[in-house]
Amino acid sequence: MVAAIWAEDEEGVIGVNGTLPWSLPGELQHFKETTYGQAILMGRKTFDGMKRRALPGRLTIVLTRDSDYQVDSENVQVFRSRKEVLDWYQTQDKATARDLFVIGGAEMFTLFDGCFERLYRTIVHGRFDGDTSFPENFKLNDFCEISSVTHASDEKNNYGFTVKTYESKK
Ligand SMILES: NC(=O)c1ccc[n+]([C@@H]2O[C@H](COP(=O)([O-])OP(=O)(O)OC[C@H]3O[C@@H](n4cnc5c(N)ncnc54)[C@H](OP(=O)(O)O)[C@@H]3O)[C@@H](O)[C@H]2O)c1
Repeated sequence: MVAAIWAEDEEGVIGVNGTLPWSLPGELQHFKETTYGQAILMGRKTFDGMKRRALPGRLTIVLTRDSDYQVDSENVQVFRSRKEVLDWYQTQDKATARDLFVIGGAEMFTLFDGCFERLYRTIVHGRFDGDTSFPENFKLNDFCEISSVTHASDEKNNYGFTVKTYESKK
């Protein structure tokens, strides 16, 4: 399965200064549970914003056009085009095949629009300053919502959030 997973605020903001605009441990836990054991693909700017650290328990794939870009970790693979990523995904050994989760940023959601079988969209209940938004022209109408779960704010999470899951209509 190829899926997209992201969190946006009430106006579609997803990032600021190379990182997330909010700190929400509950939302990160949802992200971890959903992606654990699978492959997560991100753009080079997002990976740099994570200080080039791979997340445990997942294969990290980073996309860049920079032929000199290297990451010294066995849990990270660097690819240089959309085609390279999809070729890797399609030619995996069936016994050990991983789902591919495109985790952002905005450029990645646009680049892989049309490939997604499933979407995991979190809406954070707030408005934040940001410099990156989820792409406005993403074809959300090609998907139908199959679940929606709301988490209230609490002592660890300053904002509530709603996790919506969608499946492709195609
Ligand atoms: N809220 C969320 O769920 C979420 C999730 C992820 C990220 N974010 C945020 O989003 C922001 C970054 O997003 P962004 O859209 O600016 O950048 P991005 O998607 O993370 O990375 C963009 C980079 O990807 C590479 N790239 C793009 N198209 C490519 C292609 N066709 N082939 C090869 N490489 C390609 C290029 O790297 P080179 O310049 O090296 O060639 C490009 O500069 C950050 O603030 C981050 O924290 C938010």
